[in-house]
Amino acid sequence: MNSQVPVCLAQVTEETAHWQNILLEQHADGICQLTINRPKVLNALNAEILAELDQALNLVAKANDVRVLLITGAGEKAFVAGADIAHMKQLTALEGKYFAEQGMAVFRKLENLPVPVIALVNGYALGGGCELAMSCDFILAAENARFGQPEVNLGVTPGFGGSQRLTRLVGRGMAMELLTTGRMMNADEALQRGLANHVYPQADLLDEGVKLAGQIATKSRTAVQLTKQLVQRGQDLDLDNACVMESDVFGLSFSTPDREEGMAAFLEGRKPEFS
Ligand code: CAA
Repeated sequence: MNSQVPVCLAQVTEETAHWQNILLEQHADGICQLTINRPKVLNALNAEILAELDQALNLVAKANDVRVLLITGAGEKAFVAGADIAHMKQLTALEGKYFAEQGMAVFRKLENLPVPVIALVNGYALGGGCELAMSCDFILAAENARFGQPEVNLGVTPGFGGSQRLTRLVGRGMAMELLTTGRMMNADEALQRGLANHVYPQADLLDEGVKLAGQIATKSRTAVQLTKQLVQRGQDLDLDNACVMESDVFGLSFSTPDREEGMAAFLEGRKPEFS
């Protein structure tokens, strides 16, 4: 195994040994960090990275010692500067469609991961990079972050969900402006438009991400996972059906040991010890 590639779980070292572009490492208390590690081309995504990302997400999904996943890019310049243009230049129309379907499937898997996922955007998040960040549950941005969907400059459309997720996140008018001009948003504008939750100096981004993830990691794992499911599934339902789903899941949460512990701890005036 490549010693440069720490892994979340001791058992999965063999599965990660051949990865060239993804680092997976464990911080304290169930916080896992996934780094897209191709800084020479600003972490641009090709089919190989997407395949490795897919495998990494499969591992995180089954790792019972992961409570929160952080995703970031290697180096100080970029989160991910988009899909790899050198890779895309060679693709036929059908191969382009397959490439988009591969990216869509991986980003959908990320969105549906049982644990919360936080994007730490440490520079350019363009095209597929912005799409990757938007597929995370929320975004923390460094002051040097730049967000955009510049595909119109290349004569193509977004392919990993950008036209859909950006519209849902910032509204139709602003999404149309950004998608049709290809202009970049800086971190403050991303914050103002609700794309990023917080902005930090670049040197503090990882620490702040770990701190926030640490808060989540102390909560009931089951309650956090059920909450993520509610938010993910509910956003595509009408309010009546979404509220029915919430009552059902609320009821379900009463069957868990964490509910016993959480309520008992409150009534006994102590901190809960969740499983
Ligand atoms: N694909 C392939 N290589 C890329 C890349 C990308 N998306 N982005 C940057 N690189 C490479 C550059 O070619 C360069 O490589 P060399 O050193 O070998 O020349 C290296 O990364 C450094 O980049 P620059 O020299 O360009 O750095 P810069 O600071 O001058 O500019 C930048 C930074 C503004 C991000 C510029 O690199 C850029 O515009 N990149 C392309 C961004 C883009 O168009 N992304 C969208 C791609 S399409 C897409 O993602 C479709 C989709 O939805 C799936």
